[in-house]
Amino acid sequence: MIAVRSRAPQRARLSALGAYVPEQVVTNADFVARMDTTDEWIVSRTGIRERRYARPDQATSDLAIEAARAVLDDAGLPAADVDALIVPTCTPDHLFPSVAAITADAIGAHNAAAFDIEAACSGFIYGLSQATALVESGFARNVLVVGAELFSRLVDPDDRSTCILFGDGAAGALVTAGDPGDTDGFLGFDLGADGSLACELLLPVGGTRQPASQPFAREAAYVQMNGREVFRFATRVMEETTVRILEAVGLGIDDIDLLVAHQANQRIIDHAIGRLGFDPAKVFNNVEHYGNTSAASIPLALWEARQAGVLRPGMQTLLVGFGAGLTWGATVVRYEP
Ligand code: COA
Repeated sequence: MIAVRSRAPQRARLSALGAYVPEQVVTNADFVARMDTTDEWIVSRTGIRERRYARPDQATSDLAIEAARAVLDDAGLPAADVDALIVPTCTPDHLFPSVAAITADAIGAHNAAAFDIEAACSGFIYGLSQATALVESGFARNVLVVGAELFSRLVDPDDRSTCILFGDGAAGALVTAGDPGDTDGFLGFDLGADGSLACELLLPVGGTRQPASQPFAREAAYVQMNGREVFRFATRVMEETTVRILEAVGLGIDDIDLLVAHQANQRIIDHAIGRLGFDPAKVFNNVEHYGNTSAASIPLALWEARQAGVLRPGMQTLLVGFGAGLTWGATVVRYEP
């Protein structure tokens, strides 16, 4: 991407969606068959009934490539017209190079700047904020944001408190320049992080703190989570970030047509919307079928909502994410294909 600032200020719009999930469905019964758990425990604590697992030959970029192609098909945009490709992920193929660089090459986005964003399950909202900044500054016209995660390879298959939660998938959106004066698009963002809670959800081995070249305990190679603490954090920030973003953009709860929250756990979402007094009929969830797909979960739910006719053009949509870091993010956007 060669960025030269355009004179006319332009609005960033959410103009296309796409998704890819692997074929293999892993049900709660599959866990019950090999560990001390029950379908009732998993469903009552999380709302999750099944999730998708990638094939052994697939890495995160393989999922991202499929989702990126799906977004471009939806938009009818040639890959050569993508100015930037942002991949929010915390389960990349490698520490480096980025999933985005590999994906851009595979889809033929040879004119695109390409980089990953690591904000865990808040990553898609962070990615949308960066795409909006690039477009509204006039430095880019078409920014592809594709959340992609392959958690099944990084959760301990024998840890019943984490392995039941996560699934694999990729999904994304195209953020494009609207006309000057357009009122559509992203109305604002609330983003934040509290690194004092970093230890509550992490993958210890593989970075510079505990390099994979040094000896380590088996469990340190897998996701570690303090479930109760993360639950407390998630319900609190989902409520707080929603209140802040609505106030910032001058809207009330009743002005929102649709809420799509990070699909971590049905109980977290129900708890937060209950406290906010949000109408459950305006909330779209699919955690039941995919589990927690981290940075892919919000675009995957948005895409399914659109396919189901629940997300319609012009709807004022609230997106809320939270995750490791611990991080959070929220935005209000009018979907304008
Ligand atoms: N099946 C049966 N029992 C299980 C189990 C499973 N899959 N996983 C854990 N348990 C057990 C625990 O071992 C514990 O047993 P103990 O009391 O004998 O030690 C018991 O259930 C209660 O554990 P606890 O962790 O207190 O359960 P919980 O009610 O908090 O539910 C979570 C656990 C993980 C479902 C819940 O804490 C949660 O959803 N946290 C947020 C996780 C999340 O969304 N993370 C991603 C954020 S982006």
